[in-house]
Amino acid sequence: SNLKPTIFIIFGGTGDLNKRKLAPALYNLYTEGYMPEKFSIIGTGRTEFTDEKYQQELLDSINEFSRNGKVKADKWEKFGVNIHYCPIDITSQKTFEDLKENIEKYKAEFGEDTQVIYYLAVAPNFFPLIAECLKKYKLTGNESNSRIVVEKPFGHDLESAKELNLLLDGIFTEKQIYRIDHYLGKETVQNMMAFRFANSLFEPLWNRNYIDHVQISVTEQLGVGDRGGYYEGSGALRDMIQNHLLQLLCLVGMEAPISFDADEIRDRKVEVLKAMRPFKPEEVSYNSVRGQYGKGWVAGKEVPGYRHENAVDSHSNTETFAAVKFHIDNWRWQGVPFYLRTGKRLNQTSSLITIQFKDVPHHIFSSNVAEIWQQNRLIISLQPEMSIRLQVQAKRPGVDMVLNPVDMVFDYKGTYDTDTPEAYETLLLDAMEGDQTLFMRGDQVEAAWELVMPIINTWENKTSLNFPNYPADSWGPEEAEALIARDGFHWFTLPIKEKE
Ligand code: BG6
Repeated sequence: SNLKPTIFIIFGGTGDLNKRKLAPALYNLYTEGYMPEKFSIIGTGRTEFTDEKYQQELLDSINEFSRNGKVKADKWEKFGVNIHYCPIDITSQKTFEDLKENIEKYKAEFGEDTQVIYYLAVAPNFFPLIAECLKKYKLTGNESNSRIVVEKPFGHDLESAKELNLLLDGIFTEKQIYRIDHYLGKETVQNMMAFRFANSLFEPLWNRNYIDHVQISVTEQLGVGDRGGYYEGSGALRDMIQNHLLQLLCLVGMEAPISFDADEIRDRKVEVLKAMRPFKPEEVSYNSVRGQYGKGWVAGKEVPGYRHENAVDSHSNTETFAAVKFHIDNWRWQGVPFYLRTGKRLNQTSSLITIQFKDVPHHIFSSNVAEIWQQNRLIISLQPEMSIRLQVQAKRPGVDMVLNPVDMVFDYKGTYDTDTPEAYETLLLDAMEGDQTLFMRGDQVEAAWELVMPIINTWENKTSLNFPNYPADSWGPEEAEALIARDGFHWFTLPIKEKE
């Protein structure tokens, strides 16, 4: 790769994200020839490690979590020596001098054009402190040689997101700030743009004249696991809808960009958020549903309800499920509802975008010939199945005229025999290349918070809830079904082949 020499500083170098995602992603980029010729990965954390011990730690995690399985000895020999460790106590600050020394050492070795990437994979309360220390120790560089990658959550609400933006803007320029939403790095999510803007077939239909509603559903079988401490202060709306699901909505809803330029694309996405109809407090309960999982059985094992998970309040009102009906008030989407839902401990792990088209204007086939009458649908399955399906009506073979819906399927597995990269591989490479297309701009994050704030505020002011209101392994609270059923629709799911 002809990338500039790069120094990667990972704050939270001993943390879970680095072990599960960042280190395996960097290793995979290396084995596939995408890392710069000269690079150094410096993990930082409070624990004391020698470089050798830290390299061994990361080797173990890469072996465990890499999509490519076990590390190859010859590759590791060349990759592992670039990993270093620098103990840092963020609160004592003076250890930043050590970090600075380290950076300068590699800069001297790598040459003038070395770039530095700071990756904040720590709890959000440390973001401001780290950013301020980088400034104090003159480590912020400029647009061409330094960047900061900020993990989620970006703020806890609109106000804190604004504060964080203000703080970062005082230290870095917007071109240096890379706010992660890992959904944007997913292969299938990126394909949304190719699908919409590299084909002439769909765009003429992509509006209120032909589409009757859109569903965006991200369901998970897992519970909160050991993340109760974080999740308890967050909930499904903040954790998933404010970021991942609204970003998916923007990709469905955006106007055609004039180029594939990062700011051009982000401008079009912000316009969608700005066109979304804000909820008045009294409209919130009509347009949204929240839920919390109770105990139940998953794969033959009894699992606890949310209130009995680690680090969760036994009277918690944090939602583990949320469904919201949104509208986009512009010419393209007037009158087309967008239904979003997400939740944990549900019956399937599946991320689907379903575009349902309007019915034919006149039925010539009497109801007895149509076994199941199904309006056309376009179903984009993001994970675990990676596919795009177009559901159409067809005649069944046979002497009788009998119709039934069939799927025209573009399936990644059957079409390409290459493996798809993990979201973090794509995003880390983009950060090294200086491409912000798949990262959140400050105004995008704020617009998304602004939209969900009335829901958050209304929910927080009404806390006596009949939780839990759905058992593990279900499809969430019944009210979520009612939310969409009252408009005459129902939540679409793919028939599952086998459970995870
Ligand atoms: C994270 C959320 O951002 O996304 C988690 O904090 C969630 O709660 C996860 O489980 C889902 O990501 P993925 O890539 O597994 O769909």
